[in-house]
Amino acid sequence: MLNFNYSIPTKIFFGDGQIEVLGNEIKKYGSKVLLVYGKGSIKKTGIYDEVVNILKSNNIEYWELAGVDPNPRITSVREGIKICREEGIDFILPIGGGSSIDCAKVIAAGYYYEGDPWDFLIKKAKVEKALPLGAILTLSATGSEMDAGAVITNMETNQKLSVGHPSMAPKFSILDPTYTFTVPKSQTAAGVADIMSHIFESYFSRTKEAYLQDRMAEALLKTCIKYGKIAIDEPENYEARSNIMWASSLAINGLLGYGKGKDFRWSVHAIEHELSAYYDITHGVGLAILYPNWMRHVLDDENVYKFVEYGVNIWGIDENKSDYVIANEAIDKTREYFNSLGLPSTLKEVGIGKENLEKMAKAAVDHNKGTVGSFKPLTYEDVLNIYMASL
Ligand code: NZQ
Ligand code: ZN
Repeated sequence: MLNFNYSIPTKIFFGDGQIEVLGNEIKKYGSKVLLVYGKGSIKKTGIYDEVVNILKSNNIEYWELAGVDPNPRITSVREGIKICREEGIDFILPIGGGSSIDCAKVIAAGYYYEGDPWDFLIKKAKVEKALPLGAILTLSATGSEMDAGAVITNMETNQKLSVGHPSMAPKFSILDPTYTFTVPKSQTAAGVADIMSHIFESYFSRTKEAYLQDRMAEALLKTCIKYGKIAIDEPENYEARSNIMWASSLAINGLLGYGKGKDFRWSVHAIEHELSAYYDITHGVGLAILYPNWMRHVLDDENVYKFVEYGVNIWGIDENKSDYVIANEAIDKTREYFNSLGLPSTLKEVGIGKENLEKMAKAAVDHNKGTVGSFKPLTYEDVLNIYMASL
């Protein structure tokens, strides 16, 4: 196992009714709050009213940035920063999925930066500090509730890029699985695919001796596989929703990547982000389409052992079969599982054709210093082949 520094600072309040801590938690940091939320699901579900009542009863003033898009835009970030400066906001409270939380994180960092916040995403400027934020999660998927990263889209330049800094990690997150009962089947499926993809990104690494992390990864994968289907069939199944919710946070909060080296880089997310940048598709859907094709593309004599581990430990494939048979069956099972959740297998199904594949492949490598990922570094041709195989 390689050296690592453990730091997962976000305090988690997990479970039914945990919203009761909200007032006291916010008051540790501020009293003028910016609520950041999406297109209105929190109003339909009643979470908005619940939060506002708590703020009022605690004499906490609040302002609102509503309408954050799935694949949050830099324009929303700019708007949020403006409100924070004009109103002297001292705490940011996103309520929603990864999009609202990511938008809030970059508002929090941009507040202290004089230039345009897009500079952070194109690495023209570095985040130095951020306003404190706390998250109320309503969709299990990205893990943004417990990590320090954010992904923001610029529709003018067709770019979807990420930024991260320890100061952007939520001070606390409230994870009430009942808040996810209303997540539609399609978003539940995309969320499960996203969580599984985060686990895969760490699991498929070249570090062989991080045994513990890989067994933890397998436990999380099994949790997603067991409960993903149940959550879709029975949206109000608390056991399923709670297991998936906690898996979403643990998949990306750092635990699984520790011990795998500082140069360890993700693969399929970089390829997917170009799809969302060009076509504004749901992140988890793009990942579900790409992942099995990425697996098939990178599989070789050097790494087949990892696919054997995956096939035997996750899918229960007979270990006496030959390595490549196990590996290929495991990849087929991955595709079948995503399909069983109702997720598509091809880019065509989400309206993506050949027209921009070359531009996207070039952007993916350009955004990643020339090669994508570190499990098997991918060149422009590799990325293009994976897109072509996904058509
Ligand atoms: O906008 P509203 O009305 O709230 O509806 C949302 C949205 O349409 C809806 N929704 C959320 N909670 C709901 C609900 N509908 C009914 N009931 C509820 N309880 O779901 C839709 C999707 O929401 P969104 O926040 O966009 O989804 P998700 O959590 O999947 O976030 C996706 C974004 O996060 C980024 C993605 O790239 C994408 O931009 N990611 C962030 C990461 C991070 N910060 O670490 C890592 C991820 O890999 C990912 O890249
Ligand atoms: Zn993701």
